[in-house]
Amino acid sequence: MAYNLLKGKRGIISGALDENSIAWKVAEKAHEEGATFVLTNAPIAMRMGQINALAEKTGSTIIPADATNVEELTHLFTHGQEILGGKIDFVLHSIGMSVNIRKNIPYTELNYDYFLKGIDVSALSLHKMLAVAKKLDAINEWGSVVALTYAAAQRTYPFYTDMADIKAMLESIARSFGYHYGVTKKVRINTVSQSPTKTTAGTGIKGFGDFFDYANAIAPLGNATAEDCANYCITLFSDLTRMVTMQNLFHDGGYSSTGVSNTIMQQIGLE
Ligand SMILES: NC(=O)c1ccc[n+]([C@@H]2O[C@H](COP(=O)([O-])OP(=O)(O)OC[C@H]3O[C@@H](n4cnc5c(N)ncnc54)[C@H](O)[C@@H]3O)[C@@H](O)[C@H]2O)c1
Repeated sequence: MAYNLLKGKRGIISGALDENSIAWKVAEKAHEEGATFVLTNAPIAMRMGQINALAEKTGSTIIPADATNVEELTHLFTHGQEILGGKIDFVLHSIGMSVNIRKNIPYTELNYDYFLKGIDVSALSLHKMLAVAKKLDAINEWGSVVALTYAAAQRTYPFYTDMADIKAMLESIARSFGYHYGVTKKVRINTVSQSPTKTTAGTGIKGFGDFFDYANAIAPLGNATAEDCANYCITLFSDLTRMVTMQNLFHDGGYSSTGVSNTIMQQIGLE
């Protein structure tokens, strides 16, 4: 059911790689809720081709941009406004990549070139997007920016290696930039800390399948799906949440507030 929550709003949605991507679901929901938007992803992701189907389905234009490249981000925000016919109301940052995770390198033996690459792609890219948008004055007052994160920024998950530190930085950038952009332009910036979700980025993590089941057994409501996450992002882009900014918002079925569940106790034979 749609509520027209984003009627008349213009957005930029990054990170839709295939139909499992959280950003893909956000784009579908934003379209249903009346928004117009451009889709963006790294040029290499374009070559996989699937994003074209999403663009067609949602009547969107695709503007390729490597989120680490300030020039390409400048083109994204400039050309995005031209295509959409005005300033931007919402931005989704849905970008994550760790070469250390891809190569199964343990946390205590991280490759620092890969680590720096991960920081640039997954955390600094948010700062770069925001700095470009602010410089161009591309976001309307009361606009909303959401970046996706994971609870490893607060607690240790050994398999999440350098992405834990990178997500902590991402959340800090959202807070810090949220202050400055809030004071000058009333732009809101939040991070959504999502449950484990079966996407390309998610399943690239060693042991993800077992952990997905563990988190599902801990969370009183179970794991939040990509579609649930998209619905939550839509509320944050809407005017109904206009005083929410600089927050890390857990969207995880109650997982982050639960110490242990009866299900887990039973599984390890204690109940
Ligand atoms: N899947 C999970 O379990 C989970 C849980 C919590 C948070 N998240 C976060 O959600 C976000 C989206 O991930 P997803 O799970 O939908 O996986 P995904 O693999 O579908 O999306 C990741 C996206 O990042 C893009 N990307 C990588 N490098 C880029 C670059 N240089 N420039 C621009 N785009 C680039 C990829 O092309 C891809 O579209 C990430 O920030 C991820 O860390 C995922």
